[in-house]
Amino acid sequence: MTVGKLEGRVALITGASRGIGREIGRLFAENGADVCLNYLKSRDDADSLAEQCRAYGVRATVMQADVSQVEPAKALVEKTLADFGKIDILVNNAGVLTQALVQDMSVETWDAMIASDLRSVFLCTRFALPSMIERRYGRIINVASQLGQKGAPELGHYCAAKAGVIGFTKALAREVGEYNITANCVAPGPIDTDMVAGISESWKDMKRKELPIPRFGRVEEVAPAALLLAADPDGTIFTGQTLGPNSGDVMF
Ligand SMILES: NC(=O)c1ccc[n+]([C@@H]2O[C@H](COP(=O)([O-])OP(=O)(O)OC[C@H]3O[C@@H](n4cnc5c(N)ncnc54)[C@H](O)[C@@H]3O)[C@@H](O)[C@H]2O)c1
Repeated sequence: MTVGKLEGRVALITGASRGIGREIGRLFAENGADVCLNYLKSRDDADSLAEQCRAYGVRATVMQADVSQVEPAKALVEKTLADFGKIDILVNNAGVLTQALVQDMSVETWDAMIASDLRSVFLCTRFALPSMIERRYGRIINVASQLGQKGAPELGHYCAAKAGVIGFTKALAREVGEYNITANCVAPGPIDTDMVAGISESWKDMKRKELPIPRFGRVEEVAPAALLLAADPDGTIFTGQTLGPNSGDVMF
C-alpha cells in the first residue's frame, strides 16, 4: 500500500472550490490529508470536491467564508480547529484579478484588491498561528504570483498585493521557524483557470510568445509545488522561499 505524503495531516485551503485551490485540495486529499475546503460563492463546486476527496478515504468539510473579512476568517479557522482538532497546513490561495491603469484606478478598486489578495493572507495566518505555535508544527503556503515579482501594466494593485504576500511570507518565516513552522510562497505564472478566462485571446497569444515555455500552465502543474512545501521531509528545510511554476516568466 502506498502511504500518502500527508497522511494524518489536516489542511485548510482557502478559495478551494475551483482553479488552483481546487487542485491543491484534491492532491492533498489524494495524499492522505483531511481537508477543510473554503469557498466564497459556489457551494455546489465545493461539495463536489469534498465528495471527490472523501473517495480517497479522508475527511473533508466545506465552509463558506469571505477570508478578506475579520469575523469570517476567524470563524473559518475556529470551525476547522473544532472539526479536526488542529490545522497542520494552511494554504492561503483565495484571490481575485481585476484590471485598471493606476491613473484611472478608484480607491475602492485598490482597497478591494488589497483585502482579497493580501489582507486575507494575514487574517487566516493570524488566526491559525497560535494553535500551530502551541503544537510546534505548521506549514503555511501562500499563493502569490510571478506578477508580484516582475510587475505588469493595469495590475498595479494585484502586483502590490502579491509582492506584499511574498514580503509578508519572508517576515513570517523569520518569526516562526523556531516553532517548526515554515512559511513559503508558490508564485505561478499564467495558468489556465477561470481567473484568466476573461482575458482577450490576442493578449494571451502575446503573453505565450514571451514565455520560455510558450504556453500557459495547468493547475496540475502548480499543485505539486504546494505538496512539496507541505510534505515532510520533502519541504521541511524550505522557508521564506518563493517557488515559481511560471513557464520561465520570472527567473532567479
Ligand atoms: N490563474 C493564474 O494565471 C494565476 C497566476 C498567478 C497566481 N494566481 C493566484 O492563484 C490563486 C488561485 O487563482 P485561480 O487562478 O485558481 O483563480 P480562480 O478565480 O479560479 O480561483 C480563485 C478562488 O478564490 C476565491 N476567492 C476570491 N476571493 C475570496 C475571498 N475573499 N474569500 C474566499 N474565497 C475567495 C474565488 O471565489 C475562487 O474560487 C489566486 O490567489 C491567484 O491570484 C493565479
